[in-house]
Amino acid sequence: MRKLRITICCILAFSIVEAQNGFSIIGVDKEVNPYQYTVQKRGEFKQAAVSSAHPLASMVGAVVMKKGGNAFDAAIATQLVLAVVYPNAGNIGGGGFLLGRKVNGDLIGIDYREAAPEKANRDMYLDKNGNPQMNLSLAGHLASGIPGTVAGLFATMPYAKLSFENLIQPAIDIASKGYVLTEKEAGSLNSVRESITKNSTQPTALVRATKWKVGDTLVQKELAATLTLIQKEGARGFYDGKTAELIVAEMQRGGGIISLADLKNYTAKLRNPISFNYRGHEIISFAPPSSGGILIAQMMKMVEKYPMSKYGFQSTKSVQLMIEAERRAYADRAEFMGDPDFFKVPVKTLMSDAYLTQRMSDYNPDKAGVSATVKAGIIKESEETTHLSIVDPAGNMVSVTTTLNNSYGNRTVVGGAGFMLNNEMDDFSVKPGVPNMYGAIGGEANSIQPGKRMLSSMTPTLVLKDKKPYITIGTPGGTTIPTSVYQALINVIDFNM
Ligand code: GLY
Repeated sequence: MRKLRITICCILAFSIVEAQNGFSIIGVDKEVNPYQYTVQKRGEFKQAAVSSAHPLASMVGAVVMKKGGNAFDAAIATQLVLAVVYPNAGNIGGGGFLLGRKVNGDLIGIDYREAAPEKANRDMYLDKNGNPQMNLSLAGHLASGIPGTVAGLFATMPYAKLSFENLIQPAIDIASKGYVLTEKEAGSLNSVRESITKNSTQPTALVRATKWKVGDTLVQKELAATLTLIQKEGARGFYDGKTAELIVAEMQRGGGIISLADLKNYTAKLRNPISFNYRGHEIISFAPPSSGGILIAQMMKMVEKYPMSKYGFQSTKSVQLMIEAERRAYADRAEFMGDPDFFKVPVKTLMSDAYLTQRMSDYNPDKAGVSATVKAGIIKESEETTHLSIVDPAGNMVSVTTTLNNSYGNRTVVGGAGFMLNNEMDDFSVKPGVPNMYGAIGGEANSIQPGKRMLSSMTPTLVLKDKKPYITIGTPGGTTIPTSVYQALINVIDFNM
């Protein structure tokens, strides 16, 4: 049996679980045990594999495939469990991008990025003197874009085999019966206790009277009820009816602007993936409104002409070259990239050989560039987004990156509905030249407009070698996502790691 070497999920903890006989879904025969589980970070598997930020989510994805589901079924179930067990970034109140490749070669790109509400406007985060008020785009009700995840899950269903009713059941079970917190999870919840209390208008299961400690069980009854509504009513269980009313009531209590009409009108969109070739590998990634696919294409094509493997991993030569490519690509990001439905992104030019050769024409291996030309602030790598990678026994590949933006999003739980909202509005450029929380700048291309999707850096990516599945990759990390994916791919392809 062929072996799968699967998934580089850069930097943060991840688990890989074999879809072997014996696993099954909690509530059916309880072999996915939310009270006792182990973290597995490396492995080789014969048939299929799931990698995500939480062992329970990965196990559920694996069991779904064992029960006849494909990689798309597993991606749906895994994301739903992450919405329960990984409130830092797993979500139904945020958004994401799914990149899939069916075994017949068909590529699928589902954009469920959050969008600006109808009442949003380009100056909404500026005070009367035109100064940015970053606190408003980061925390609390005004920071939230219209959530896209639930629409994205339903847009994935045409590629899945099992019923949504079954795929959501494990998440409902784990939310209603609870799961045991690790020391790290307890500490993480305690660290946001104050800001969640400050920004939420109603009590939430994530904050209790005393601090969380290792071994405590986190039960989320309101979240279970919301998931059950989605199970019964489909996407309408989120974008219409009771859940939508709870979101809008939360907005009204907290000075937010998302309306019932915003929720009703939200749709996920299909996008043609970006493809390019790098040293004989076919690399497939996400198109705008994520900048990720174009950025990795630009950076990899800028270094392709140089003998990277001869330079060596982390040698002065290879690091200098890779960084200079990053500088140039990120300057293009700030100027040319945004939601393609609102701003014409010159995708072909940005990825063309002629353009990239010209971009590198002033490259000097003996002299560092000037960072001031990209006007970036301090970029801190953090956990605010999450990634999952799946390959099924048939060879279907799915790569999903999904986010609330900051860790725990805008720190606001929807009262009565039990889920956290995103603070994705900070991914817009609130004012030309003013950096967002990642230090990224932008201009007209990524200005705020009603209905527009904020520019993302999420980079779910697939790699084929000899036309066969080779790597599924992605990572959290804000604007460091494309650089992390780029560096990891170079490490595998050039430095043979
Ligand atoms: N919120 C992170 C990103 O979309 O780039």
